[in-house]
Amino acid sequence: MTPLSPGSRIGILGGGQLGRMLAGSAAQLGFDVSILCPEADCPAARVAMDHRVAAYTDLDAVLDWARGCDVVTYEFENVPVTTAAHLIDHEIIVRPGAAALEVSQDRVAEKTFLNQCGIDTARFAEINTAEEIAAPIERFGGAAILKTRRDGYDGKGQVRLAAGDDYAEALRALGNAPSILEAMVPFSCEVSVIIARSAEGESICYDLPRNDHTNGILRRSVVPSQLDAEVEARACEAARKLADALDYVGVLALEFFVLENGDLLANEFAPRVHNSGHWTPEACATGQFEQHIRAIAGWPLGPVTRYHKAEMLNLLGDEIFAHSGVSATDGVLTLYGKRHPKPGRKMGHLVRRLD
Ligand SMILES: Nc1ncnc2c1ncn2[C@@H]1O[C@H](COP(=O)(O)OP(=O)(O)O)[C@@H](O)[C@H]1O
Ligand SMILES: [Mg+2]
Repeated sequence: MTPLSPGSRIGILGGGQLGRMLAGSAAQLGFDVSILCPEADCPAARVAMDHRVAAYTDLDAVLDWARGCDVVTYEFENVPVTTAAHLIDHEIIVRPGAAALEVSQDRVAEKTFLNQCGIDTARFAEINTAEEIAAPIERFGGAAILKTRRDGYDGKGQVRLAAGDDYAEALRALGNAPSILEAMVPFSCEVSVIIARSAEGESICYDLPRNDHTNGILRRSVVPSQLDAEVEARACEAARKLADALDYVGVLALEFFVLENGDLLANEFAPRVHNSGHWTPEACATGQFEQHIRAIAGWPLGPVTRYHKAEMLNLLGDEIFAHSGVSATDGVLTLYGKRHPKPGRKMGHLVRRLD
């Protein structure tokens, strides 16, 4: 594909805050943006030039919409693989493609793929019945997390387990969905690699943020991570292998647990821009949203030079009300335009300069 010229139309599957921020960056680069999502009043559509309301599974509607776009991307990883494949079969350019969706939608497929790429993960076992839990939990030293294979986010669809717990009850709490049991990792910290890969196969990694989670939800990301450069380099190398193996185009995030001795275990990846990269527009020469748009448009990637230390604080639920009056000197505020601040819901974020 020749690079898209300004004025071309970028289609985004998904209407949440990531789509909204992608649309802003696309507009800045002179592109028109069209959103397809099932909700009539979504955060992304309110900043885009066009919005088609349709179910992701309505293949005719999605294809009809995509024919009006020069390239199609997605802002959330649960777009059905069949939908992406249908578009590709009809010669729509979909970036980052269907493989990244297929692998990242299922935690068992994801960890298997990471391991095949030579990237270590926590030990895991596929779980379909409560009887299958006892043996692996013993093998894992008696502490584990049971997660649904699909559809989990922000710590939802997860239960922590200790040997001897009521396994049937735990699986019931997950709706008896096909699940994965993961060894509990005694990590010293969590970091993520935000990597961008261009249509030409060039890739570039941002400095790694260190990420703090509470109840499975990201609260704060801070750069620099203060890890040894050698550890960061190993994490970037792993992300590069993953992006290459997927022939990925766009921005991808790979989350890691860092052990006391510097060993890295990959946790999961997101085939999209990522919450832990929200500090990049303020702190770097090219933010992750612009970078993703550049990549999918067939443009060269921008430099990821970081200008200063930074922290990104997520604003959950009502917390936005405390922050909507912040002055610009407190940091750069981004609010997502969501109508209902439910507890724990990501409503916005604040990026602060630390030096
Ligand atoms: N195997 C594990 N060992 C220790 N902590 C874990 C493990 N899996 C998840 N966690 C904790 O829960 C958080 C959310 O889990 P994750 O697998 O990333 O799911 P989600 O899709 O909800 O982000 C992680 O960032 C980490 O803090
Ligand atoms: Mg995660």
